[in-house]
Amino acid sequence: MKIFCIGAGYVGGPTMAVTAFKAPDVQVTVYDLNQQRIDAWNSDELPVYEPGLDEIVKKCRGKNLHFTTQEQPHLQEADIIFISVNTPTKTYGMGKGRAADLKYIESAARRIAEVVKTGSKVIVEKSTVPVRCSVAIKTILGACSEHSAAQFSILSNPEFLAEGTAVQDLLNPDRVLIGGDVDEAGQEAVRKLASVYKRWVPEERIITTNLWSSELSKLVANAFLAQRISSINAISAVCEATGADVDEVARAIGRDSRIGPKFLKASVGFGGSCFQKDILNLVYLSSSMGLEEVARYWMGVIEINDYQRRRFAQKMIQTMFDTVSGKQIAIFGFAFKKDTGDTRESSSITVCATLVEEGAHVHIYDPKVSKEQMFADIAAVIEDEAIRARLPQLVHVEKSARDAAKGAHAVAILTEWDEFKTLDYEAMYEDLKKPAFLFDGRAIVDAVKLREMGYEVYSIGKADPGILSDYY
Ligand SMILES: NC(=O)c1ccc[n+]([C@@H]2O[C@H](COP(=O)([O-])OP(=O)(O)OC[C@H]3O[C@@H](n4cnc5c(N)ncnc54)[C@H](O)[C@@H]3O)[C@@H](O)[C@H]2O)c1
Repeated sequence: MKIFCIGAGYVGGPTMAVTAFKAPDVQVTVYDLNQQRIDAWNSDELPVYEPGLDEIVKKCRGKNLHFTTQEQPHLQEADIIFISVNTPTKTYGMGKGRAADLKYIESAARRIAEVVKTGSKVIVEKSTVPVRCSVAIKTILGACSEHSAAQFSILSNPEFLAEGTAVQDLLNPDRVLIGGDVDEAGQEAVRKLASVYKRWVPEERIITTNLWSSELSKLVANAFLAQRISSINAISAVCEATGADVDEVARAIGRDSRIGPKFLKASVGFGGSCFQKDILNLVYLSSSMGLEEVARYWMGVIEINDYQRRRFAQKMIQTMFDTVSGKQIAIFGFAFKKDTGDTRESSSITVCATLVEEGAHVHIYDPKVSKEQMFADIAAVIEDEAIRARLPQLVHVEKSARDAAKGAHAVAILTEWDEFKTLDYEAMYEDLKKPAFLFDGRAIVDAVKLREMGYEVYSIGKADPGILSDYY
């Protein structure tokens, strides 16, 4: 069997690497237009950081795993063609800021129709798409291959991996979802794709359904996950105001088996390329069907996320005597979560940009994010041209957390990297200006111990000691 994947990004690369690893009899070719990305996949420095990924790629690359910018002859020869291209939120025209931009999906579908002229091919939507995107792909393939003998079956096979644990999620998925047409050809295609996954995924975890339910399930899964984060983050504000502790509340409610303990950690807000984009997609879909109440309900999840980021940055400024102008602030973490170098929609971007707009000098340390990426992300959200021009003076990228903290007025923990839990905060205290402020946007350090060392600590979802002392 031969598999061809269009798009060598965070999803295409790792999913195909694990497929090649678990199905050594299958030849897997991953294709991308971006030469730099393909060169990186073929080098010792992969374009995506994921624990365990290097080893798997090294074992399979050149054997049954190939990264290329050449479509031919692999595309024509493939039995299964995955479409794993990006589907960002539209930045123009109808549906701007909400709908998914399907131009990359469409160009991939057109290319398949142009190139593939014979044989029976299974086309798999791996990208996250709005409901009924499969109909559009089917129409394009049908219309563009008039004089072709090729037969196409379209499947929806959304990806549920989480960045940071992608390899584990792919090796041991909770479920694999495959949606297909209910006719015999559709069901045959479903069986063909399921036969690939069955090499390493137990049969009872392979769920099959119809196309549209599968497409919608991906949007709904992300909406539910993000909604849990916004729910606990909304409660974190109530905890800070009342003296309750959000971790204690999460522990108590998480023991209810109907609620469960996962995804109940308060933070400075969710990030990543998917949650916001997929909820906006659901909001747009609901709204365009006239379901305004539904659209408003899900929009609230994003509004709470924006509120949480603003609230954190405002808390920092207010605590530092209402001004951060000219102050040095150490930023621990820029990636949207630990164990990834991905910064898309990271809350760190909003917090850093707000501080810089207020005249602060931010000294950022992240173990996996490049300096160029940090500058590009911050510049993209700062509207004032004069401030953008001053970014080289206001943003500094450091090689370690301790370097970032030297001479700083405050530290802000924005990504929950493990190394920030075990830093020598006692020694670091000496390097900071006094009062030494520490703002923990992930609630990962022991605020009580740090206060004993002399720090002024604000931890998300935990009341200031002042509130508590009114009562105890
Ligand atoms: N990142 C995640 O954690 C995640 C998880 C689940 C699902 N998804 C979904 O998977 C899809 C891909 O996401 P990603 O994070 O891998 O995106 P990405 O931006 O990292 O990668 C997409 C790749 O597709 C390439 N591409 C675009 N059009 C192309 C074309 N016509 N031909 C060849 N290559 C083309 C781009 O150059 C890019 O390298 C999206 O729909 C996303 O919503 C992402």
